[in-house]
Amino acid sequence: MIRTSLLALALCSLLTACGDDGGGGGNTVDCAQSTLTYDNFGSQFMDSYCLGCHSTSVSGGARGGAPVAVNFDELTQIQTQKGRIKARVNAKTMPPATANASPSQAEIDDLVEWIDCGVN
Ligand code: HEC
Repeated sequence: MIRTSLLALALCSLLTACGDDGGGGGNTVDCAQSTLTYDNFGSQFMDSYCLGCHSTSVSGGARGGAPVAVNFDELTQIQTQKGRIKARVNAKTMPPATANASPSQAEIDDLVEWIDCGVN
């Protein structure tokens, strides 16, 4: 059941204009010019700003209240949750104020570009 819907979401994310991205708006991104990838950007962004709470290797109180099912250790997890990730980062409600570090506006713009250009 859960596996099936995750698969559907994963397939959905392969089709660029599938579903609601959530949040954002106003950003104009030229994907032909984009060089951002999981390896050169996404992985490091998540590590710096999200995995302190949203990682399968973090449990109990150390998660800071992050839901146990919301983890961003792997690209597929990010792809299936990209709409919410974009919305919360754009709204600056993730990472929360309690986090050790927050992305700069330039890093937020890069995250939006990476997500809008396919999250690969
Ligand atoms: C200090 C711990 C902490 C960090 C760091 C953190 N989060 Fe969260 N996250 C939470 C908590 C607590 C919740 C549940 C409360 C809420 O939704 O505000 C949550 C919930 C979420 C949710 C699920 C709720 C929804 O809106 O769909 C998403 C998506 C999310 N976070 C994305 C992120 C992203 C992306 C980052 C990194 C940019 C991040 N979080 C960094 C603690 C954290």
